[in-house]
Amino acid sequence: MEENVLILGAASDMAVGIARKFAAEGYSITLAGRNMDRLKAIEADLKVRHNGNVSSVMFDALDFENHYNFYHSLPEKPDVVISVFGLLGDQEEAQSDWKSCQEILFSNYVGAVSILNVVANDFEKRKKGVIVGISSVAGERGRQSNYLYGSAKAGFTSYLSGLRNRMFRHGVHVLTVKPGFVKTKMIENMKTPGPLTATPKEVGERVFKAVKAKTDTIYVRPIWSPVMIMIRNIPEGVFKKMKL
Ligand SMILES: NC(=O)c1ccc[n+]([C@@H]2O[C@H](COP(=O)([O-])OP(=O)(O)OC[C@H]3O[C@@H](n4cnc5c(N)ncnc54)[C@H](OP(=O)(O)O)[C@@H]3O)[C@@H](O)[C@H]2O)c1
Repeated sequence: MEENVLILGAASDMAVGIARKFAAEGYSITLAGRNMDRLKAIEADLKVRHNGNVSSVMFDALDFENHYNFYHSLPEKPDVVISVFGLLGDQEEAQSDWKSCQEILFSNYVGAVSILNVVANDFEKRKKGVIVGISSVAGERGRQSNYLYGSAKAGFTSYLSGLRNRMFRHGVHVLTVKPGFVKTKMIENMKTPGPLTATPKEVGERVFKAVKAKTDTIYVRPIWSPVMIMIRNIPEGVFKKMKL
C-alpha cells in the first residue's frame, strides 16, 4: 500500500509545492487546514495532475483541545507528517496588542507543539514515521522587524531538535526545514533578493529529498547557510545598532 503524508496547514502556497511533489512520487495525501473550500480545490487539482489518493480534513492549529481527537480520527494513519502552518503577523501591532502577539506565538509555536506531541506519541508506539517542521531562519537571531514571529520559530526549531533526539532511538525521523525567503502570499508585499528566494516547487523537492535521505536540518537554498553563519556571528554590540 502507498505511504500517506499528512500536511498540516495544507492551503499554504508552500504546502501545495510539497503536496505536488509527494503526490508525484506516489504518496497518498491528506490535506489538513481550516479553509475547506481551498483544500477541496487543491485536492481536485492534485487528483487531475497525479490521479492519486487525496483527501481533505478540517484542522485548526489553535484548537488545542481537539488535536488528540483530530489525529486519532483520521481515516488513515500517516507515515509522514509535515507541519507547514504559520503566521507572520504584524510585528508593530503585536508589540502593543496582546491578542495579535498571542496569535503569532500560538500559530507558530504552541499549535505546532500541541499537534506534534500527539503525532510523536503515536509514531513512538509504531516505531516508525517522519515528522517535518517548517521553521524559519528568523528563529536564528531576533531582529527588531520580526522578533515575535522569530522567537516563536526559535522555540519551534528547538522543539524539533529535542524531538529528534527523543525519537531517534524509536526509529522516527525528525526534519527541520528553514526555508529562507519563499515566494508565497506570506511575503507577497516584500521585495526579496532573487538568489535568496526559492519557489514553493523547490521547497517540495528539497523536503522530499531530505525526507528520503533522513537529513536532520535543511535550508531550502544552500546559500542561506553562509548567510546565517555571518548573521549569527555579528557581535551583539554591532548588531543592536543595526536596523534589521
Ligand atoms: N514564505 C516565506 O518566505 C517563509 C519563510 C520562512 C518560513 N516560512 C514558513 O513557511 C510556512 C508556510 O508559509 P507560506 O509561506 O506558505 O505562507 P502562507 O501561504 O501564508 O501559509 C500559511 C498557512 O498557515 C495556515 N494557518 C495559519 N494559522 C493556522 C491555523 N490556526 N490553523 C490552520 N492553519 C493555519 C494558513 O491557513 P489559511 O489559508 O486558512 O489562512 C496558511 O495556509 C509557515 O510556517 C511560515 O512561517 C515562510
